[in-house]
Amino acid sequence: MLKVGLVGVGGISGAHIPAWEAMEDAELVALCDIRSERMENYQSKRCYLDFDEMLENEELDILDICLPTYLHADFAVKAMEKGINVVTEKPISLKEEDVERVYSTAAKNNVKFMVAQVLRFWPEYEVLKEIYDTQKYGKLLSGTMLRLGGYPRWSWDNWMMDEKRSGLVPFDLHIHDLDFMVYAFGKPEVNFQYRSKLPNQDFISVSYNFGDFSVNCESSWYAIRYPFTAEFRFQFEKAVVAWENDEMKIYTTEQDEPINLTQQAEGDTGNINLPKSDAYANELIYFKDCVKNNLPVEKVKADELECVLKILNNL
Ligand SMILES: NC(=O)c1ccc[n+]([C@@H]2O[C@H](COP(=O)([O-])OP(=O)(O)OC[C@H]3O[C@@H](n4cnc5c(N)ncnc54)[C@H](O)[C@@H]3O)[C@@H](O)[C@H]2O)c1
Repeated sequence: MLKVGLVGVGGISGAHIPAWEAMEDAELVALCDIRSERMENYQSKRCYLDFDEMLENEELDILDICLPTYLHADFAVKAMEKGINVVTEKPISLKEEDVERVYSTAAKNNVKFMVAQVLRFWPEYEVLKEIYDTQKYGKLLSGTMLRLGGYPRWSWDNWMMDEKRSGLVPFDLHIHDLDFMVYAFGKPEVNFQYRSKLPNQDFISVSYNFGDFSVNCESSWYAIRYPFTAEFRFQFEKAVVAWENDEMKIYTTEQDEPINLTQQAEGDTGNINLPKSDAYANELIYFKDCVKNNLPVEKVKADELECVLKILNNL
């Protein structure tokens, strides 16, 4: 049984904790947060207000970091120097040079490290990558990716609205789509970009050039309570692959009706349904299996993370 500790019991830990709890070969034994009230609902865990104390008292196999962005790299290094395998929420850091610092610490201490870039484990995005890789519908010609919402109002100490600590929309939101594209399509050039930033909102539009095709992305924290929206539309030679309004559809040149890959109501057959899946659980299970079976963490690579941070720091 692998022993797991989690630090940062805030918003996203609500997706990580149930995923660890559902695993049969890992046990979430300890939590750490500077706010004791965040741990009140987890009486069965050993709870710490101080990270050093948790490291001192626990013999962890895995540490899961759900802290504010600016703390990820330092906490990861500290834990890996104690021989603990580390998975951290995105991004690894706001600074490109931290990628080398973190990965060299992992190598020196013979432990595994992964950034939980969740779209790499998200079924709709996995299908898109497979269609691209297999050229099932011909070559990719163009793409559009959206990631929109209102500005975050929940974060501890309002750290998310502090550019020095969160990097705002490019590093918090847009990074999801850029990271997926670097993983799926390779390293792009920036065609053009536009940003509008005010104290209570941030919007970025970037067009990326991958050589044979371009992808336009829009990411926002609007000042209003805009509903969270994550969508894409990719144009291939013989199909348009779209994830819109929570449905993934493939419109092909061969039939009038689109192929709907999204789970349909019971009794409705004939679709190639996507499996119901929790991408946050998928990423943590993947990392746990790498640790358990001593396999290399191949799904998220250092040079891809470096490429993403370099682009974001130059936007
Ligand atoms: N993959 C995703 O879809 C996704 C979604 C949301 C957030 N995230 C990432 O998760 C991270 C956390 O975001 P969040 O929304 O949960 O933020 P949050 O502010 O809700 O939670 C952060 C928690 O860390 C605690 N904390 C702060 N400093 C600490 C310290 N020194 N020691 C121990 N605990 C400390 C805070 O008390 C808080 O509970 C961010 O890096 C963000 O980018 C990822």
